[in-house]
Amino acid sequence: MKTITGLLRAKLEEAFEKCGYSKELAIVTVSDRPDLCQFQCNGAFQGAKLYHKAPRMIAEEVVKVLSEDTDLSKAELAGAGFINIDISDKLLLSYVNEVYADDNCGVPQAEKPETIVLDYGGPNAAKPLHIGHLRAAVIGEALKRLVRATGRTAIADVHLGDWGLQMGLVMAELEVRHPEWECFKEDFDPEKAGELPLTTDELNEVYPCASGKSKEDEDFKARAKELTVRMQKGEKRYLYLGREITRKSIPDIKKNYDRLNVSFDYWYGESDADKYVPELMETLEKQNLMYESEGAMVVDVARDDDKITIPPIIVRKTDGSSIYATTDLATIVQREKDFAPQGIWYVVDQRQSLHFTQVFRCAEKAGILGETKPEHLGFGTMNGADGKPYKTRDGGVMRLSLLFDTVYEAAMERVKDSKFSADEDKADVARRIAVATIKFGDLINHRAKDYIFDLDKFMAADGKTGSFLLYTVARVNSILKKTDEESITEAEGIFTDSERDLLLKIALSGEAYALAFKERAPNIVCENAYQLASSFSKFYHDNHILTEEDRAKQNAWLRACVVLRRVLEKHLDILGIESVELM
Ligand code: ARG
Repeated sequence: MKTITGLLRAKLEEAFEKCGYSKELAIVTVSDRPDLCQFQCNGAFQGAKLYHKAPRMIAEEVVKVLSEDTDLSKAELAGAGFINIDISDKLLLSYVNEVYADDNCGVPQAEKPETIVLDYGGPNAAKPLHIGHLRAAVIGEALKRLVRATGRTAIADVHLGDWGLQMGLVMAELEVRHPEWECFKEDFDPEKAGELPLTTDELNEVYPCASGKSKEDEDFKARAKELTVRMQKGEKRYLYLGREITRKSIPDIKKNYDRLNVSFDYWYGESDADKYVPELMETLEKQNLMYESEGAMVVDVARDDDKITIPPIIVRKTDGSSIYATTDLATIVQREKDFAPQGIWYVVDQRQSLHFTQVFRCAEKAGILGETKPEHLGFGTMNGADGKPYKTRDGGVMRLSLLFDTVYEAAMERVKDSKFSADEDKADVARRIAVATIKFGDLINHRAKDYIFDLDKFMAADGKTGSFLLYTVARVNSILKKTDEESITEAEGIFTDSERDLLLKIALSGEAYALAFKERAPNIVCENAYQLASSFSKFYHDNHILTEEDRAKQNAWLRACVVLRRVLEKHLDILGIESVELM
């Protein structure tokens, strides 16, 4: 369905044309002076240049036509040529009814089918998830849901890091610790090998240990590098080890994502792109794009108009080993073959922007992108109160599970004496509150901005928080529980200003989704959800719904509650936040 401004635009196009002006002028926006009007059109100013006429004259003619339209309760000339517009209550109500009945709840749908691969998460095998992985997961999940809500196909790929030095480090350490393991024996046959006897406890502790060791012990570091290259070159023993280490890492990674309500369609790793490396190299070679430089094969990607120096991209080491850029380029080849997407969105830390600039340019030069438009949707850092990346109390890197536990415990504290949820449900309610707290606290900021993680602020029951939104849904539930929901019908009219304001906010949600998609910015959905919830709060205080004796009024207000809940839940769903029944 059309957005409300889209609908008004059609009306204004007709009016402009009727007056002999181009319909291009009929751009309608939400009013930036809501105290004066709901919508505005500034097209007369543009028209003044085209038709050599005063903007006021043009606007006046258009307003005259519009004033005959009963869907508009106001169309007036203001200032030097603005057209101020209010829609009639009848139109507002019917639009809101349409949103409610719409399968997509008023989210504007894509005009043609489109597939977008989303690359987010990016955890590394053998390493526990830390808070650096939080934003990728939270923003990526929301963008995936936003893409789907607009009727496009979204393919979520976790792009597991399983092909880099961390694998060699773990292997080198295991080799020292467990020379007796089958896989380290001379006559080891990977074809017949069973499971690697690596326990979860050891898995959690082996990488930090190996990483520490490599900083002091040169030989150990060299061995780790050697094993990484041997795995990449396809030596069966190390492929087996790498695969097993990865396989054992996945359950814990998944568990962390599950708790956050984050999921992926594909659990491909960097290693899965390896089989496309030869094809990639051949393509680069055929086009003479690659040359050798200081022990590596590189491709020039600088452009004349660059404002900063973009160094050549290293696509391969001379020893044949792969690096980060190799796997990202090969993964593009893979994704083209598997999905031929219109876009690939990389939801990755902003600090990797040079890497992606190089990769995208190289891919474009090599012609491996087809119709695909790659985009790096970078994000800023989550900081502590000191403005530096969030740390544990002793200054270490904070594990994601610990962060989650901290928020979960605070949520549990709130829920524990709740009369609304049964004891057996409390853990799930607390988890939902924790997810809402973490995700909303993150997503309300534009993704490119850094933000400070402040648990008290994020947990507050009022303001721009996940809790406020969950409370709003719960409050609606509790009102509706006290009435016969089945008997609520479409409203016969709008009775108060706060009611009209709420309905207008509902009607404007379509604009927010559209803008959020255009800008790849879930914070716009957050902001709109907050606007809806605060409008509802005012509406709830101004109108005494349950004690109202006028049936038509009460019905209209209950209907507003029902619609608000559906629309707010749509917002939450896009943000990857689950609501709670009562709070
Ligand atoms: N594993 C990488 C890291 O920890 C992130 C991967 C991001 N995705 C990508 N296609 N490069 O930094």
